[in-house]
Amino acid sequence: MVENFEIGGPYNFNENELLLDVNKRTTCNLILTDSNEKVFFTSSGRGAINIMLHNIIKEHQNINKVVLLPFYACESEITPFKDNGFVIRYYKVKTDLTIDIYDLFQQINFFSPSIIYFQSYFGFDTLNNIRRYYNYLRKENIFIVEDITHSWLSSFKKTDADYYVLSMRKWLEIPDGGALISTTHNIDQSCFSNIDYHKEIIDNFIEMSINKNLYFKSKDENKKSRYMFLVKKNKKILHENKNIYRLSDISAQILNGSDWEFIRDSRRQNYKMLFNELNETINFKPVFNHFPDDVVPLYFVILIKKDRTKFQKALINERIYCPIHWPIYNEIESIYSKESLNFQYQILSIPCDQRYNELDIKRIISTINNIN
Ligand SMILES: Cc1ncc(COP(=O)(O)O)c(C=O)c1O
Repeated sequence: MVENFEIGGPYNFNENELLLDVNKRTTCNLILTDSNEKVFFTSSGRGAINIMLHNIIKEHQNINKVVLLPFYACESEITPFKDNGFVIRYYKVKTDLTIDIYDLFQQINFFSPSIIYFQSYFGFDTLNNIRRYYNYLRKENIFIVEDITHSWLSSFKKTDADYYVLSMRKWLEIPDGGALISTTHNIDQSCFSNIDYHKEIIDNFIEMSINKNLYFKSKDENKKSRYMFLVKKNKKILHENKNIYRLSDISAQILNGSDWEFIRDSRRQNYKMLFNELNETINFKPVFNHFPDDVVPLYFVILIKKDRTKFQKALINERIYCPIHWPIYNEIESIYSKESLNFQYQILSIPCDQRYNELDIKRIISTINNIN
């Protein structure tokens, strides 16, 4: 077993994956939910939301363009609704990341949304307390959308929503990858402005991977600067380019060939180690105090009680990179008090994914235990 030089940070192709044929036409054969699904694979989660909105607007031209989103959401979930002319309203999520049902129904009464966007967090079934209302909400002519980006590998039930939205890029080394799924609606693809894949993103990802692999071997900081530059460039392209692209062939090849059992098992194993060893201290506490069998975790998430920046920097000093999900969207910050957003100022995500082994997880644990 060998320790990884860095923990966290962007996924990259390994040497073998860099030999794959980018032009080999490949259809993604993943089954994503447990029902008779209709799936459309896109390059991003944003693309999936856009196709869904085109679909809904085409079928219901006089729809009241108001959507309810959780106030704990990232900008890339919010933007497609704005781009499609929706008024965005928010409902509250509690500190255990389940929905504040009282607040949700208040917002429904005030704003009569035509879509409600639900999301489970970090692999845990945080929508358990709301699914029983789906049929009632549908009868009120509300489309139910579940974002399963964080929970698609977890085995709890996913069949009751009208649409499922997914971004797969956060889970493994693919340059692009999203999906729109429906068990009940046809998915109209005519809105594709470009039926091709997003070539620039793939080219940048390949160059990024080459530089990251070289950096790990040589520790040459120029290679690191180059790969970080390319990661940022791809983020910017995704943010600015509003075209909808299909999933690339290279990502389809990786998705088809991935060892999902290994991915699930190693994430669960790593999480279990972190969960067993990192109990609440004066510095932090885990967000979830349980770890059910049906969960495949995205990250091990903790709340930093004192200075999050200092905590994060102490980990960076040991080359452990922990992202923040998510920087608070400025519109949300202007609506809610600092107290109600406290959770979002404190949260930090510790990597537990399939790239890491027992030695890496031990390194994370000892680093965290040494932060004072
Ligand atoms: C939960 C969730 N849904 C959707 C998206 C959008 O996905 P993409 O970045 O692939 O467009 C993101 C992006 O961060 C996300 O975190």
